[in-house]
Amino acid sequence: MDQAAKKQAVAAAAIEEIRGQFVSGAIIGVGTGSTANAFIDLLAQHKQHFDAAVASSKATADRLGGHGIRVLDLNDAGTLAVYVDGADEADPDLNLIKGGGGALTREKIVAAASERFVCIVDDSKCVGTLGAFPLPLEVLPMARELVMGALRDLGGAPQVRSGFTTDNGNLIIDTARLDLRDPPAAERQLNDLVGVVCNGLFALRPADALLVAGSSGVAHYVKNDQ
Ligand code: 5RP
Repeated sequence: MDQAAKKQAVAAAAIEEIRGQFVSGAIIGVGTGSTANAFIDLLAQHKQHFDAAVASSKATADRLGGHGIRVLDLNDAGTLAVYVDGADEADPDLNLIKGGGGALTREKIVAAASERFVCIVDDSKCVGTLGAFPLPLEVLPMARELVMGALRDLGGAPQVRSGFTTDNGNLIIDTARLDLRDPPAAERQLNDLVGVVCNGLFALRPADALLVAGSSGVAHYVKNDQ
């Protein structure tokens, strides 16, 4: 099974996972990226069974809207029962690196506003320790050099993502070689850097469920404390 087929399989598993949300009045949080896109395309088949969605990016809002799914501003939606999104890396504690698509800030906001975060990945995203994937950080343009210096001081190898502007008008700095062995501590430390809007570690609010597509099917993992 190739990676595209795995993304399709895990998107289908996510539909089963959230089937309980297909009720009148339900609002579903939807992530960004190719795996989330596969989920959106399947979600469209159930659009008459829920009320609306909240999108984590303009691209996702456009895709949802293209399917005729009503898209709400988060401020008008309140707490969401569930958020479904992909990831760039996932560890055994369901900590994640996200932001490969540059939507990490809105993704973290929608995840924070959701009671349950269902993360959907193919097995290439599963790692023992986070950090092989360079960590994306969203940074205010005027703070670029300040933040690059601070990331180098932490041992990182930061690189501005060329030709990319986030939905919020900011830069992405992808940073390899950071020590992410304690993901919640690293997330807090990076949050403290002046000029950083958001970092792509999802450890303070990790996934609640992780669905992983491999060659022999989709495996389900839940947080240890649930
Ligand atoms: C976007 C993200 C995506 O979830 C992540 O990059 C995974 O993308 P894909 O499903 O295309 O592999 O965090 O900001």
